[in-house]
Amino acid sequence: MTTAPASGPIKRIGVLTGGGDCPGLNAVIRAVTRRAILGYGWEVVGIEDGFQGVYEKRARALDLPSVRELLTRGGTILGSSNRANPFAYPIKRADGSEEVRDVSDQCLQNIRDLGVEALVVVGGDGSMTMAQGLYEKGLRVVGVPKTIDNDLAATDYTFGFNTAVEVATEAIDRLHTTAESHDRIILCEVMGRYAGWIAMASGLAGGADVILLPEIPYQIDRIVDAVKRRTASGVTYSIFVVAEGAKPAGGDVAVLRAGDKTQQERLGGAAERLARELESRIEYEMRVTVLGHIQRGGTPTAFDRLLGTRYGVHAVDLIAQSGFGRVVNLRGNDIGSAPIIDACRKIKLIDPAGQLCATARAVGVELGAP
Ligand code: F6P
Repeated sequence: MTTAPASGPIKRIGVLTGGGDCPGLNAVIRAVTRRAILGYGWEVVGIEDGFQGVYEKRARALDLPSVRELLTRGGTILGSSNRANPFAYPIKRADGSEEVRDVSDQCLQNIRDLGVEALVVVGGDGSMTMAQGLYEKGLRVVGVPKTIDNDLAATDYTFGFNTAVEVATEAIDRLHTTAESHDRIILCEVMGRYAGWIAMASGLAGGADVILLPEIPYQIDRIVDAVKRRTASGVTYSIFVVAEGAKPAGGDVAVLRAGDKTQQERLGGAAERLARELESRIEYEMRVTVLGHIQRGGTPTAFDRLLGTRYGVHAVDLIAQSGFGRVVNLRGNDIGSAPIIDACRKIKLIDPAGQLCATARAVGVELGAP
């Protein structure tokens, strides 16, 4: 089945949220809805559970009352799905086993059946790759970049990151007092699969002694030496911030569950593994705190509400200007846009030789490698 590109004036748009949730998604949904209705007189349809709702044709009308009181609300009122990919969709067979199928043509048909003439896809790298694929098959689509990891190269900041950093920094502040009281090393594991933006930002803001990033494989000897130096200077506790994607030099990431064709591997245990490795080499008692999804849940910060609102409004304006196949972004203080393809599989990493790492080292933080 081939799909003719949609054309003609817009009367109804759709919005969906895909991938892992993050604080600020509801601000985007609210802004998209309000801008479309108030600015252009369009109808808005919210597709439920990301691309799963596209495949299952599950959607609901969004009007002004339905997006009231959303700015403070975490998560996404539309729901999301991590596994639903139109190009590799997991279908359950009668015997309970799963097969993976390309259902993209069905998804495009469903979008037409819903009367959706242009779609706003709010998501990370995975959702943007799906959006790009559907765009290439004729869908009128614009993207809004989202991930607490802040690792999309297409934008300076994704919403959700700021909230995650605030949550992690508050946790680190709290860990300081208990670590000090008990003369312990506390290792705080934060999210960040490929990029250590949350670890670096919260670690610097929270005054961590050791910050370990996916970008810098760590040498255990350097960490032991850093602890010894601190002890020699009379300080008998330390705080380590460990990104979930941190790995030892020559080693691999800590994985809780392997990935497959429809889902990525589940990371976890990087801090615990390091604590076990250090046990025999230093005298300190150690404790591990894994912040996990606490970083993703709850009320977004003002920064993320504002960024989500700006993104949502600009995404609708892009549709009005026929800027299909583009993703909204933030460069400096300005909202603009880039081709969606720029948000697919182009990860923004911390430069080990860059300014942020230099700043960390300048204030005495051990990053695990020179
Ligand atoms: O990509 C954002 C992220 O929060 C990663 O930091 C983390 O590895 C992943 O999502 C966790 O995903 P899930 O909620 O599916 O376990």
